[in-house]
Amino acid sequence: MIVFPSHLSAPSALATVSVCQEILASDGVTDIDAGQLSYIDPFGMAMLGACFDSARNIGCTIRVHQLSANLSGYLQRMDVFDGVELVACAQSAGTRRDRSGDLVELTQLSNRADVGSAAHRLAKAMIGNPDPNEVPDEMSGYTPYERLVEPLQYALNELLENALTHARRGNMSASVWVASQYYPKKDLIRLGVVDNGCGFLESLRNHSELLHKRHIEAILLALRPRISCNRDLGVFNDSVNQGVGLTTSCRIAERADGRMILASGNAMHSTSGYSGEKPDVYWQGVGIAMEVNRSKLAEVRIQELLPSLDDIPPVTLRFE
Ligand SMILES: Nc1ncnc2c1ncn2[C@@H]1O[C@H](COP(=O)(O)OP(=O)(O)O)[C@@H](O)[C@H]1O
Ligand SMILES: [Mg+2]
Repeated sequence: MIVFPSHLSAPSALATVSVCQEILASDGVTDIDAGQLSYIDPFGMAMLGACFDSARNIGCTIRVHQLSANLSGYLQRMDVFDGVELVACAQSAGTRRDRSGDLVELTQLSNRADVGSAAHRLAKAMIGNPDPNEVPDEMSGYTPYERLVEPLQYALNELLENALTHARRGNMSASVWVASQYYPKKDLIRLGVVDNGCGFLESLRNHSELLHKRHIEAILLALRPRISCNRDLGVFNDSVNQGVGLTTSCRIAERADGRMILASGNAMHSTSGYSGEKPDVYWQGVGIAMEVNRSKLAEVRIQELLPSLDDIPPVTLRFE
């Protein structure tokens, strides 16, 4: 029996990745004891979504035991347990409460064409309903509501786009799972974006700036401005090869008093704490947690955060 830890969340990312790894390594019928699980955040939900789906695709049956009444209703509403057997778990209350103003269910995306609309829908859901009396600012033309939606929409668009382009090198069937929630008491928005693709190291393996072929170095390299696996190749158009998406998303989180945690392979990096590798914890793909203070989003100006052209690393000229 696999045992869920008490927290499946971004601050417990190592324990979360580790139990997902255990589930994926098992075959046949996988029994999970959820009796100790007391808290799950969007990162935990997106990880479970990706993990359960991969497990099902390799023919595993997953049975979750002893889930508390509290979590059972919540997780079923978030669609985490589609196709998973619940054994001796408290029943959920039945009807789904419409909480589209502050909570978005776990969503799986497999089609790049859906990224734009999903990013827009998720960002709006996290901000809630606009005040109908809001007037656009004369200078910028933006309403205060649009000011809050824009940075989140930008980050979601970049993260989802990355997951359905770069992550597919070598695994064309990779998908991405996204979950998000607004926590009114703390005025925090949390996002989890998890894919089951090739991971940072594989996509940047041939990049000349990657000195050591290690997961942690690949994550840190990807976060640097103007670093892209596609530079000069012109494989994708628009924002997908300028190398600014991750850098700017990170800057948005920091400007909004938040943070970002990135996990890939055996490495994890948090913009506010731990950074390193663990030999026996492994995620095949990329898992990202982003946290922002909702009202602070009003102060974010994406134009000011975008890396400038000066950030382009110098090209070594060769005369041959
Ligand atoms: N989900 C992912 N899976 C694998 N590699 C990724 C992922 N997201 C980002 N990367 C790597 O990080 C690099 C930088 O990402 P980003 O800043 O969005 O720039 P760009 O998408 O323009 O290349 C990408 O070029 C890619 O090599
Ligand atoms: Mg990108």
